[in-house]
Amino acid sequence: MTRVLVLNGPNLGRLGVREPEIYGADTFADLVAAASGWGKELGLEVDARQTDDESQLIGWLHEAVDTRAHVVLNPAAFTHYSYALRDAAAQITSVGLLLVEVHLSNPHTRESFRHYSVVSGVATGTIAGFGFQSYRLALEGIAARLAG
Ligand code: DQA
Repeated sequence: MTRVLVLNGPNLGRLGVREPEIYGADTFADLVAAASGWGKELGLEVDARQTDDESQLIGWLHEAVDTRAHVVLNPAAFTHYSYALRDAAAQITSVGLLLVEVHLSNPHTRESFRHYSVVSGVATGTIAGFGFQSYRLALEGIAARLAG
């Protein structure tokens, strides 16, 4: 089965507690369960992870390249300033794997520092603003692209 790593950056483990008016009341465990279920429906093996650590997230992107896994990535705040994460993300698409950048909120409607993503320029595509559904749309996009 096609593997997809669903990788999440800092503070996303705090979903449900963190600013629920922006990110919703559901927890990260709820997101993992939902993403795995959507993956099953789409014939994708989803492996969802979260870390607050930049080096860990970069290591998981390297793992995706080395094991030929597609990636759904919510880089969280790293989106806006981590060139190291961008360089790791670039390796995904440069070897022909799919990388979908996702955001729960729509960063463009928020503070100006959130308006720029260093990751978007090396992603296959970006989906933002649909809460947990951003992940479902990303998985559907991967499944559709793989189906040709
Ligand atoms: C986020 C948006 C980022 O600006 C923010 O730093 C996050 C979450 C989102 O999913 O909406 O941590 O990536």
